[in-house]
This record gives sequence, C-alpha cells and structure tokens, in this order.
Amino acid sequence: MKLTLHVWRQKNRDDKGRIEIYDANNVSPEMSFLEMLDVVNEELTLKGVDPIHFDHDCREGICGMCSMVINGVAHGPQPGTTVCQLHMRHFRDGDHVYVEPWRARAFPLIKDLTVDRGALDRIIAAGGFVSVNTGGTPDGNALPIPKDNAERSMDAAACIGCGACVAACPNASAMLFVAAKVAHLAYLPQGQVERERRVTAMIAQMDAEQFGSCTNHYECEAVCPKNISVENIAKMNREYAKALATRERKASGGGF
Ligand code: FES
Repeated sequence: MKLTLHVWRQKNRDDKGRIEIYDANNVSPEMSFLEMLDVVNEELTLKGVDPIHFDHDCREGICGMCSMVINGVAHGPQPGTTVCQLHMRHFRDGDHVYVEPWRARAFPLIKDLTVDRGALDRIIAAGGFVSVNTGGTPDGNALPIPKDNAERSMDAAACIGCGACVAACPNASAMLFVAAKVAHLAYLPQGQVERERRVTAMIAQMDAEQFGSCTNHYECEAVCPKNISVENIAKMNREYAKALATRERKASGGGF
C-alpha cells in the first residue's frame, strides 16, 4: 500500500505549526499505525529531515501514551482502539491520511504530535488513589463486594488516561477521565474512607487545569479506546453533590 500523509509539524509551543505532506511507501496491512510512522521516520532520517515526533510506550493498548488525531478522530477510525493497536488494513491503498496532535488548552504542545498531558497526572495526584492502609492481599472472598459494583468498578478502571476524551470534546472537558477514576474507587469498600475528599479535590484540580465543562456531547464516550461509559459522569456528579452536602452538614454541626 501507498499512502499520502498530511502531518502536523510544529517545532515547539511558540512555533505557528503547519501541515507537511509525506509519502508512506511499502506499507504492509499488518503494520500498526505507529509502525507505519516508524518506517516514514526512518526514511526522513536518512534524508536528513527531522523525524515526526509522537508519543508511545507499550504499543499494546495499555499505557495510554499514543495520542494523535487521525482523519479528525482521536485514535483514528476504529472504535475501541488505541493508535498503537490500529492496523493499516483499515486504510486503503492511495488514501490521504491527516495526522494531528490532541488539541486542548490544558494539553500544551511539546513538538509535532506530542503534547504535555501532565494535567491528568496532577488530577490523579489530587485524589485518584487510596492512601489508607489496606494491609496485605486478602483472600478474594474475605471482603464481599456486590457483583454489580465489582463490574462497574472494573469497567471504570479500564481507563488508560490517554486524553482522547479531552481531545474529542468540543469543550476540551476531562469529565470522562475524572469520572472514571472517581467511580472506580467509589464502588469499592477500600475507596470509602476518602470518598468525599477525593471527588472534591479531583474536580477542583480539573477546574484549575482549565479543562472545559461537560455539556453532554458524548464525543468522549465515542472515541474512548476502552469504551468508558458516560454513566460514570452521572456517578461522579452524584458523588460530588453528596460530598458537598455532607461538608455543609458537618460545617453546620448537623449529624448524620
Ligand atoms: S502506546 Fe501504550 S496504549 Fe498505545
């Protein structure tokens, strides 16, 4: 296969940036999208051209590093698929393919297709963890958890923090990411001790990072490579309302 790539090139945050056109020759349908970019980069390097900078790590769909918009869709045309797991058989010989970085104020561009997603790490640092001592690994049946809760928690925990939800949202909202992290722990007994503190701290950090608000476009759910449901956003909103009500009750000296 031969493809024509239209790739966003930008030296740094201050550079204006532009689309540049490259030929991708000898593309095998079995290659992943990143492997195809590796081949293009090899040719560029041999010609003395600065290779295309892009993020990647595991190349197995688990780390959330690969982040690019392909033909206008975060992670490209295959639903439930990260860029590293997207194979070239989903494109046709002669296709023109447009490749751009995540675009959001909270994700400042570093170079070409690489952006700084540290804002998501700072949201996790604000509360996306369990800091109480949970002891050693208990027997699987020592702490009964309703099956429904266990499944909802596991589904939310599938979020790999890639930021596609932000890139796809017209408001650049990180609500799906934050909601997945909040819901994951709110459904489990181990997450109860810090439940209220967690949701208020994570939402405060999300706002401080200048992510937009959710206005129910559902684009986040459509592009999420792990099929995280927007139901988690409703769960987070309920958690937040409960946390604020509890805080107010405590401040006014009320009991439970
Ligand atoms: S490189 Fe790890 S998820 Fe794509």
